Amino acid sequence: MTGTLTLDSFAKINRSLLVRGKRPDGFHELDTLFSTIDLSDRLTFKKAGTTTLTCSDPALPVGPENLVVKAVRKLQELWGFAGGLEIHLEKRIPWGAGLGGGSSNAAVTLLASARIFSPSVSRESLHPVALELGSDVPFFLLGGSARGQGRGERLRPVASGPDEPLVLLIPPFRLSTPEVFRTLGAGPIQGTPGPTDLPDQNDLEVPAGKLKPEIHRYLRSLLDSKARQARMSGSGSCLFGIYGSPSEADEAARGLSELHPECRFAVTRTVGRTEYEARAVP
Ligand code: C5P
Repeated sequence: MTGTLTLDSFAKINRSLLVRGKRPDGFHELDTLFSTIDLSDRLTFKKAGTTTLTCSDPALPVGPENLVVKAVRKLQELWGFAGGLEIHLEKRIPWGAGLGGGSSNAAVTLLASARIFSPSVSRESLHPVALELGSDVPFFLLGGSARGQGRGERLRPVASGPDEPLVLLIPPFRLSTPEVFRTLGAGPIQGTPGPTDLPDQNDLEVPAGKLKPEIHRYLRSLLDSKARQARMSGSGSCLFGIYGSPSEADEAARGLSELHPECRFAVTRTVGRTEYEARAVP
């Protein structure tokens, strides 16, 4: 490849998230509905002698612990290609917020590395590597809306319909995913997942609310702002409301920012698979 490859790396929300119990391997068995949203980081890739990562946010670690660097290294171990990638990450997705920014960056890096070093490999063959990097990474190989079971990696695409307007409420604190799952204190897995639609709930809101009681207050404010649906995304701390129109979402965001000046707000929308394929997949 000559030149650079630039791709959008989208955030996600979990429209619903059910925790079915704790598995013997320590992970939790989930049943969730993911949707990509129009909030994205930008990743630029250039072939180089070794792999390096730079980031617009100086607070984000860019060493071997970063999922972007891990993604390239894992493929290098598997495929044994020489050289590496000079990568720049323009960070816009808040992290520690349940929006999947790091997982999305990792998936886009897998797709870009495959395009650059091994163009004939299928996207499906990247799935096991994606899961080794994190539970949410496989979803970002797909994008759009998808039901995720297991750790979230058993994915079934769901027709997304028209894009839906939404408001993100980003609290002034982060939540740690392992700590939220620990606080849930789930027992062993019960029952089998039904084929029916998922109920409108996120089982991690209760433990997140134990760690940060403001979560419940913010959810009430979103519902009072006429959101059709208001939920926490993933293990938090970000919450979202879904509205009937973009102008309702704008109006809600204005009212909410007066009520909660300590939070940040973003008006955005869901992103379907066609747009995802065009902007995030090389
Ligand atoms: O897979 P990922 O690295 O995103 O998971 C981070 C942590 O979140 C895990 O170490 C685990 O504590 C918790 N987790 C879980 N069950 C899942 C996903 C994550 O317990 N399905």
